Amino acid sequence: MTTWRVEVPARWQQCATCGNRLDELDARTSCPECGGLLDVMYHTPAGRAAELRRLFDSRVSLRGTPRDRSGVWRYAELIMNAAPESIVSFPEGNTPMLASERVASWAGVAQLQLKHEGMNPTGSFKDRGMTVGVTQAKRVGARAVACASTGNTSASLAAYAALGGLPSVVLVPAGQVAAGKLQQTLAYGARTLAVRGDFDACLALLRDAAHRLGIYLLNSVNPFRVEGQKAIVFELLQQLDWQAPDWIALPAGNLGNTAAFGKALDEASRLGLIDRIPRLLCVQAAGAAPFYRSFQSGFAERHKSRAATVASAIRIGDPASYDRGVRALRLTRGAVVAVPDEEIIDAQRCVGSAGIGCEPASAASVAGVRAAVKSELISPEESVVAVLTGHLLKHPDASTANDANGGNSPVEIDPSIEAIERALH
Ligand code: F0G
Repeated sequence: MTTWRVEVPARWQQCATCGNRLDELDARTSCPECGGLLDVMYHTPAGRAAELRRLFDSRVSLRGTPRDRSGVWRYAELIMNAAPESIVSFPEGNTPMLASERVASWAGVAQLQLKHEGMNPTGSFKDRGMTVGVTQAKRVGARAVACASTGNTSASLAAYAALGGLPSVVLVPAGQVAAGKLQQTLAYGARTLAVRGDFDACLALLRDAAHRLGIYLLNSVNPFRVEGQKAIVFELLQQLDWQAPDWIALPAGNLGNTAAFGKALDEASRLGLIDRIPRLLCVQAAGAAPFYRSFQSGFAERHKSRAATVASAIRIGDPASYDRGVRALRLTRGAVVAVPDEEIIDAQRCVGSAGIGCEPASAASVAGVRAAVKSELISPEESVVAVLTGHLLKHPDASTANDANGGNSPVEIDPSIEAIERALH
């Protein structure tokens, strides 16, 4: 039986640039005064850490409402005050923390855990933000939902929109989306527009068009997506019994997840759920590294680039959540590294050979840990959680094309025992 002694605090939206306040149920996804990005705000209840920990522990269950079954809604007090019957949830979350000696020794740290977000219902961490985003879409009475995507957000949006009974529209860069992700998006019924342009062009176009078309925008510029993605951090901390690791490594593209991790760590610390804040290690692909370049200049300048990398999920040259990303890095005394494609593929091969597997963008976080150990940013004794953001099956074509299977390929044989023996010799 869940006890409800922790009140769910009231919320509002606030512009991160000019401080303008909007109602929680305002459907605009940027500030009407200055165009800045919005944050969801609430007063973090002080002195309730022990009670909250007990409450979150009591909710882990196979049965009951989304608060009991979902690894997002378990933390409802820290995410959204939605009536249980209005929640659009598969459920999601409850993803494993995996330890592999092989991957740890490849990366060069003794204590490495892999938080496998590819184990979500549509195979990526996006489901965490989308359950909250689509629930909010229903709360504000949206007629339809939309996103621009490199593939995972669109798969997730399409699935949650279908579950919630809302039409969905997605804009993807033509010819640049991994096969698995496109198949999901189509199968779940999203109207899919393949734009002749890159991801950055898709997002810019949609941010202009969404309001005019009366469609609710569900990219991670939407602050409710960020609220859901905070649950990755809450859940990994709960799995570690609220003993914060030294570092949390994650791939960084549009910086929505970086923003969510920073906000989650800020709130967890204010609430007293953790007594120190882990450092964020944001990992970009060398060919799509505008945030890395800005980090190198102490964030004196906002860089943009034309993005090119095998990790198509993070092929992004103008991250929309740049300001929020900077805030997260400053709060956590974090760092940004950039890794070349060959190292991303090496990491993917290593994670695959451990029986775990992930898509190239996710392997970037493991490649980034190795690079950070080599450059002595991370010391081998420090504890690290690396987030694997998407499933191996998302991007099967990349595995074959880049030999992420470590030279392993099927051996065709005649149907005889002798042929098996010959092949195994
Ligand atoms: N890893 C994967 C597997 C992703 O799909 C993405 C982003 C990221 C990391 C980076 O997260 O953008 O919040 O910094 N994918 C988006 C999409 C862009 O459309 O699916 P971010």
